[in-house]
Amino acid sequence: MSGINAVVTGAGGFIGGHLTRALLAEGKSVRAVDKKPLTEWYQVHDGADNMVADVSLRPLCERVVDGGADEVYHLAADMGGMGFIEANKAACMLSVLSSTHMLIAARDAGAERYFYSSSACVYAADKQTETEVLPLREEDAYPAMAEDGYGWEKLFSERMARHFREDYGLTSRVARYHNVYGPHGTWDGGREKAPAAACRKIAIAALTGEREVEIWGDGEQTRSFMYIDDCVEGTLRIARSEVTEPLNLGSDQLVSINQLYALVQDIAGIELTYNHIPGPLGVRGRNSDNTRITKELDWAPSITLRAGLEQTYRWIYDQVAARIDGRAYVN
Ligand code: NAD
Ligand code: GDD
Repeated sequence: MSGINAVVTGAGGFIGGHLTRALLAEGKSVRAVDKKPLTEWYQVHDGADNMVADVSLRPLCERVVDGGADEVYHLAADMGGMGFIEANKAACMLSVLSSTHMLIAARDAGAERYFYSSSACVYAADKQTETEVLPLREEDAYPAMAEDGYGWEKLFSERMARHFREDYGLTSRVARYHNVYGPHGTWDGGREKAPAAACRKIAIAALTGEREVEIWGDGEQTRSFMYIDDCVEGTLRIARSEVTEPLNLGSDQLVSINQLYALVQDIAGIELTYNHIPGPLGVRGRNSDNTRITKELDWAPSITLRAGLEQTYRWIYDQVAARIDGRAYVN
């Protein structure tokens, strides 16, 4: 045995970095894995066994789970916000290689639990055409009409996790994350999602005196946004639960993108005008129905958007200020 209790793939990214921290805080021995060089990881936790490995390659997956971990959290994926997934469908779908090889490796190593991070992008497009959208229930993924590229890979991979459970006895669990935000997330470069983009643009305005900010689309499109602490707690609860079917893991606080920007503007304490420009829009409305998670786990995400954005804005403001001054990344 390697003595590893938990493996986290995608640990150099946003959610994986926070999850690794939480597992270490529980006293677990954690192997944190990412294909990026360690210098590019969003968080490096010294207490973890940090491994640079590309888990789309099967032999490397075998090394990653070497000895058989109790819990395998597979979060590695080539992903981003609408700006990325709409322009990189093939790259998003290639994550099927890591999802497949990690499942095989976890099964062969006798892993006790396997967690897969799916997405609200698995839901059928025809259920998300209105701003006043009905919250998405787990059964709304079928008949399937997922987000092109990224959503189809997620739907396929979560289904494969189900069949590995049914056919090979691998204890797999799946969460469908709805748009997650928080400190140490991607905030620029093209992969950032709307909350980080809003914080970055408004922080630049606050620091430079610029007073016009761009928003993609008319801003009336709606979403719900989950703060990272709820995401990590929900991930651990779902991974360790007896719930075999995919569960929504998201906030059910629906806001328009204009409301999101207004909230960040209020936190920043400045006056702004908005320029609505063409951009990749995705679905018109999306919200999480939390009936099933509440019933099954007696828990659901509860951190308000304002509380989460206050933390996120402060962190992104510091990153923008550091960049303007020519300083490095700030923790
Ligand atoms: P992220 O981009 O910050 O982190 C993903 C990490 O995976 C990156 O560091 C990347 O280098 C790594 N990676 C990609 N391919 C790899 C490979 N072949 N081998 C090893 N590492 C690889 O993304 P995140 O926001 O932390 O998302 C984590 C997971 O949650 C992903 O599977 C994502 O699809 C899913 N998800 C996230 C959200 C969200 O809003 N953040 C929503 C739905 C689903
Ligand atoms: N990213 C981004 N940047 N979005 C913006 C911006 C901006 O500057 N301005 C307005 N938006 C709008 C987008 O056009 C979209 O309509 C909405 O904000 C939300 O965009 P994102 O946050 O990028 O993505 P999403 O909610 O459509 O999808 C995300 O969440 C899924 C899970 O719920 C993606 O990250 C998916 O990868 C993820 O699975």
